[in-house]
Amino acid sequence: MAFKKLAIGNDHTAVEMRKEIQAYLEGQGYEVISVGTDSTERFNYPVSGYKVAKMVASGEVDGGILICGTGVGISLAANKVKGIRAVVCSEPYSARLSRQHNNTNIVAFGARVIGIETAKDIVDAWLGAEFEGGRHQVRIDMISEIEATQALAAAE
Ligand code: RB5
Repeated sequence: MAFKKLAIGNDHTAVEMRKEIQAYLEGQGYEVISVGTDSTERFNYPVSGYKVAKMVASGEVDGGILICGTGVGISLAANKVKGIRAVVCSEPYSARLSRQHNNTNIVAFGARVIGIETAKDIVDAWLGAEFEGGRHQVRIDMISEIEATQALAAAE
């Protein structure tokens, strides 16, 4: 498996799902570091999104998993960290393609949107897929150019 060491984060809406996904992955031999909350008290999702994103961007872990109510806010926060490509999805097809074509390094989903079995399917699809490079790398490079310069030569 390409990703062996993972970080996982959540907010107050996703405590149970985070615990279940963490246990599911540890049962398969992954090392999983949780930075999420264990409490159902209100917790601001950007904290977990940022922490997981920094761990991925620094290379401390190979990839990240983020769960909030919808997966939207926590992935938006993660995507503000340089080098992060976080996908939010509700089905495994997008998760798989996001690895193969977009080289995503974080997957996010919503505990209020999908059930635990779909969440496991998404994680399986995401972890089981490899980036295909080639023409897709050209497009990733363009995303990185936008990130670094707030401009894109190909669009001028
Ligand atoms: C929390 O109420 C909710 O806004 C959060 O979990 C998430 O869905 C945000 O995108």
